[in-house]
Amino acid sequence: MRSGVVTGEKRVQSGRMKSIWAGILLMALTGGALHGDEGQQGLRHWEIASADPDRIMLTFMGDPATGRAVTWRTDASVTTGLAEIAPGLAEPRFDRKARRFEAKTEVLDLGAFPENRQGLVHFHSVVFDDLQPDTLYAYRVGNEDGYWSEWIQFRTAKRGPGPFQFLYFGDAQNDLLSHWSRVARMAAQIAPDAPIALHAGDLVNEGHRDTEWGEWFKAGGFLHSQWTAIVAAGNHEYRQMNPENPDWEGRVLAMHWRPQFTLPEVPSLPELLQETVYTVDYQGVRFIILNTNRMQEEQIPYLEKKLKEAGPLWRVVAFHHPVFSPGRDRDNAELRAAWKPLFDKYSVDLVLQGHDHTYARGHVTVDRSENFNTLYVTSVSGPKMYDILGNKFEVYEGDGYRHDRQAENTQFFQVISVDGSQLTYEAYTATGELYDKATITKDFVSGTKQIEQEIPDVPRRTHANTERYER
Ligand SMILES: [Fe+2]
Repeated sequence: MRSGVVTGEKRVQSGRMKSIWAGILLMALTGGALHGDEGQQGLRHWEIASADPDRIMLTFMGDPATGRAVTWRTDASVTTGLAEIAPGLAEPRFDRKARRFEAKTEVLDLGAFPENRQGLVHFHSVVFDDLQPDTLYAYRVGNEDGYWSEWIQFRTAKRGPGPFQFLYFGDAQNDLLSHWSRVARMAAQIAPDAPIALHAGDLVNEGHRDTEWGEWFKAGGFLHSQWTAIVAAGNHEYRQMNPENPDWEGRVLAMHWRPQFTLPEVPSLPELLQETVYTVDYQGVRFIILNTNRMQEEQIPYLEKKLKEAGPLWRVVAFHHPVFSPGRDRDNAELRAAWKPLFDKYSVDLVLQGHDHTYARGHVTVDRSENFNTLYVTSVSGPKMYDILGNKFEVYEGDGYRHDRQAENTQFFQVISVDGSQLTYEAYTATGELYDKATITKDFVSGTKQIEQEIPDVPRRTHANTERYER
């Protein structure tokens, strides 16, 4: 066995040498102009891309029962990537059954944003297909030079409806490593079997700034490679390439977004909306992800088509800017006029949003009757905090909105459980305390729904009764 170990080490050594030579060759080919590379001083060691895969991210692509996409980062010396996947067995030689996939490799020039101190990095992606439903798999990513990640396990979805939980995070955005990390980790403790993490936009503060994505990945750590993510783009994922440029209209989607998240493309939508508007069907629940930053009108035909299609037992729509904004001086009236009629008409069950750095949950009934129609939530998972104006929700009564629960100055995550005719919504604080709960019960034959409020006996959290927030 000893000789085997020595051989393994040699293989890795020669792999590293190959990578170093590949790096030198790349430098020579590009005239050494790895823009930004000269100034890596000041970066934390875990922010610097290397031949080892990092920022490993699992997303949906195709049928969640039979496929997944994985994306990871390396430095520019790694020009090809590989991923392997095998059924997860208890014995260590499960890896003998691994299937190997060649990655698509994409170059990202971080130096195009002046504040970034690294130049070219590579993002590699693989779409695993032909998987068996409801099966535990182990996968790893790397390259043939021996730079492999650990084996990471996830379970494919069942075919057809089946009970499951998913996590929802409002804006993470600021102090990701120091303050958002505890929320992600508490979520994994409270709902360890939840296979999905839904992020409702503003994952970071400055969408092009690589150090912030580095923090987001380090804060979530291996959870990002074990959960399958559903991500919506927020306004902080639309920024100027030149931060000095005051032209707000010139904002573009974060340079990281499309390379680092492998997401479904929708040919019927404009190029500018690709990988920000898409649908995932998971065990009877349809998740429709929309983009509130761009072309709201243009998304209506897609939204209506996805709401009209028969099949899903539950419909969840997620996006960034809230329909019923709880934030002081904020109101997204155009958005409400554009999309709410469709949520009403097709009786969307749950609308998940962010942006306002407060917590608010309420609901809309069917034609102002007592019959529940749609639950609306705005939440925040990161540490940036705004205020809720005292009578804020009264202005929405004309739109049929009934306010149920609110909070200020609190970091949240949500656990949503779907089981047959019931959908249970729970909001937890960063400390793992249950703060809000409601259960929707649906009659699938008549389509009628009821909501049961199960708000825990926890006083409403406000700026006045919590540790003072200073920005
Ligand atoms: Fe926002």
